[in-house]
Amino acid sequence: MDLSVQLKSVQLKIEAKKQPLRLVQVTDCHLGGTPGDDLLGLDTDLSLADVLQLIEVEQPDPDLVLATGDIAGGAELPAYQRFLKLADARFSAPMAWLPGNHDTPEVMAEALEGRFMPKVITTEQWLIVLLDSSVRGYEHGDLSRSELDFFQDVLSRYPKHHTLVFLHHQPVPVGSAWVDQYIVRSADQFFAIVDRHPQIKGISWGHIHQEFYQLRNGVPLWATPSTCVQFKPNCDDFIVDHTMPGYRWYDLYPDGHLETAVSRIADKDYPIDYASSGY
Ligand SMILES: [Fe+2]
Repeated sequence: MDLSVQLKSVQLKIEAKKQPLRLVQVTDCHLGGTPGDDLLGLDTDLSLADVLQLIEVEQPDPDLVLATGDIAGGAELPAYQRFLKLADARFSAPMAWLPGNHDTPEVMAEALEGRFMPKVITTEQWLIVLLDSSVRGYEHGDLSRSELDFFQDVLSRYPKHHTLVFLHHQPVPVGSAWVDQYIVRSADQFFAIVDRHPQIKGISWGHIHQEFYQLRNGVPLWATPSTCVQFKPNCDDFIVDHTMPGYRWYDLYPDGHLETAVSRIADKDYPIDYASSGY
C-alpha cells in the first residue's frame, strides 16, 4: 500500500507545547481479565496504578504516553479496557500502544471502540515509530516483511527528523538465555535498516522486565522495567528480581539530543512469589 495512504490511518502529528518534549513509557503491565488478578502474587492492577501515580507526580504534563506491549497477561478484552481507563484518568496527553507476545492486536483494537491509536507520531523535529514484533501464538519476536518495509518507508519519508523506535521484544541478546530465546528473529534485517538511517537516536523495548542499556554503532538501545514483576538480569534461568515496578521517561530536544532514565516506585511490600521458577 502507498505510504501516504497508510500514514493517514496511523499517524498523529503533535505540536510541542514546550521544549523539551516529554515522553513516558510503561510496559508489560500484564493486567488480567478481572481486577485484582495477579502475576506471581502481585496484583498487576495495583502495581500499574502505583506506577501511573508516580508518573503523575514526577511528570505532571507529558506530551505522549507509550505502552510497549504485554498490556494484558492473556489478551482479555477487559484488561485493555481497564488499562485505557486507568491511563485516561491520569493523563490528557495522547497515547500510543503496541502489542507484545501476551497481547492480541484484534482484541486491543476492539477495546479502542473506534478510538484512534497512532503507530507513527511526528512533531516538527521528531519522529516516533512503533513496530509490531508480536507473532501470533508464539513468545518470540519477529518483524514481518511488511513491518520492515513500513519502517524503511517511514524513515525515508522523514530523513531529517530525529527518530525514536519502539517495539516489544529485544532485538539484541540481553544476557539471559531463558529470555534471549525470544529475541526478534529478523533483528539482522531490522538493524540493516537502522544502520542506513543516522537520524535514529534510540531504540527501546519492554518484554524483559528489567532495565537495559547498550550502545550499538552509536545508537543507544534501552529496555524499560515492567509495571509489575521484575526479572533478574544476566541469569540463564528465570529468577524474579527484587527491584520495584517502574517506567522510563524521555526528554527530546529540538536539536536531536535526548535524555532518558528509569524511575521506580519506592520500596513497597508487594506479596510477590520470589521463589517462582517461571510465569
Ligand atoms: Fe513480553
